[in-house]
Amino acid sequence: MAPKLSHHLISYAFFLLPLLVQVSVVKSESQFSKSLHFLQGAQIGHAFKGLNQVKQYFNAFGYYPSGINLTDDFDDLLESALKIYQKQYRLEVTGKLDSDTIENMLIPRCGVQDVFNKPNDLVEFDMVANYTFFNGMPRWNTRQLTYTFRSSAQVISVQQLRPIIARAFQRWAAVSGFTFQEAPLFTQADIVIGFHRLFHWDGYPFDGPGNVLAHAFAPQDGRLHYDADENWSTTNLTTINQIDLESVAVHEIGHILGLGHSQDPRAIMFAYYMPGTIKRNLGQDDIDGIRALYLG
Ligand SMILES: *[C@@H]1O[C@H](CO)[C@@H](O)[C@H](O)[C@H]1NC(C)=O
Ligand SMILES: *[C@@H]1O[C@H](CO)[C@@H](O)[C@H](O)[C@H]1NC(C)=O
Ligand SMILES: *[C@@H]1O[C@H](CO)[C@@H](O)[C@H](O)[C@H]1NC(C)=O
Ligand SMILES: *[C@@H]1O[C@H](CO)[C@@H](O)[C@H](O)[C@H]1NC(C)=O
Ligand SMILES: [Zn+2]
Ligand SMILES: [Zn+2]
Repeated sequence: MAPKLSHHLISYAFFLLPLLVQVSVVKSESQFSKSLHFLQGAQIGHAFKGLNQVKQYFNAFGYYPSGINLTDDFDDLLESALKIYQKQYRLEVTGKLDSDTIENMLIPRCGVQDVFNKPNDLVEFDMVANYTFFNGMPRWNTRQLTYTFRSSAQVISVQQLRPIIARAFQRWAAVSGFTFQEAPLFTQADIVIGFHRLFHWDGYPFDGPGNVLAHAFAPQDGRLHYDADENWSTTNLTTINQIDLESVAVHEIGHILGLGHSQDPRAIMFAYYMPGTIKRNLGQDDIDGIRALYLG
């Protein structure tokens, strides 16, 4: 089955250059943060050393096209990427790398690309739902799914993971008619959950601590990957700078089932996650989304 993080990402797999660029800029959170703050105020028409990292960020999340040499020039494409991004996250649409935009970019997030599949003429009205689907609306054609655990990096034991993941599945089961059953280890299953570090053979290398926390593939792929380099919390008392494993599980399972990112910050399918918080409940938008995909 073709790997499918999102429709647009598929095509990247065929461009070696963007992938190599992505691997080479494995940077720590503070380095990325420093260069972003250094670039504050950048706008069209000038070159700014390090701006290629900003382009890379927007490329990774679906705002800047791939197959282009990512230079340090502030070009039209970057300005338009910034405007779309600012609109998507309800920031002031300036087309510049302003401080609010930088603050938003520095919040850790899911690695799956944002999707923009709303009818354009309706976007201005708040009537339009915030949930999205992957392009082509891929879905499962069964409601009984199995899952298992398989990691290339040892971070959290399967014994510890088991109840956390089971609770995350239960939240979706309760509103969707899906059932999720654990398959024995080392057997075939619809969904495979695991921890991986940096380059891990799926074309979407993780980036070390910070920024991307996890990613999952659209139906009917079933791969759910956690970034092994994050400070994961398995308790109900997530402390500052820790990432709640269960919160991220609920989000990534949404992708496994076919939901894209939501523009509603209250939705579990919102792309960004504030470290130190627990956000495990589905929002109304998530429930509306899964029902529209499978029952609508
Ligand atoms: C990308 O652009 C830079 C700066 O203009 C240049 O030095 C480099 O050779 C280019 N790389 C490719 C692969 O075109
Ligand atoms: C993870 O977070 C805990 C609690 O805040 C902290 O004690 C620990 O040092 C952190 N570990 C890493 C690797 O950052
Ligand atoms: C966290 O809370 C859930 C439900 O509120 C409970 O089932 C679970 O056992 C708790 N986990 C821990 C590690 O205390
Ligand atoms: C979309 O999300 C925004 C922000 O939370 C909210 O104000 C709006 O009512 C939501 N729209 C729908 C249709 O739920
Ligand atoms: Zn996501
Ligand atoms: Zn992966």
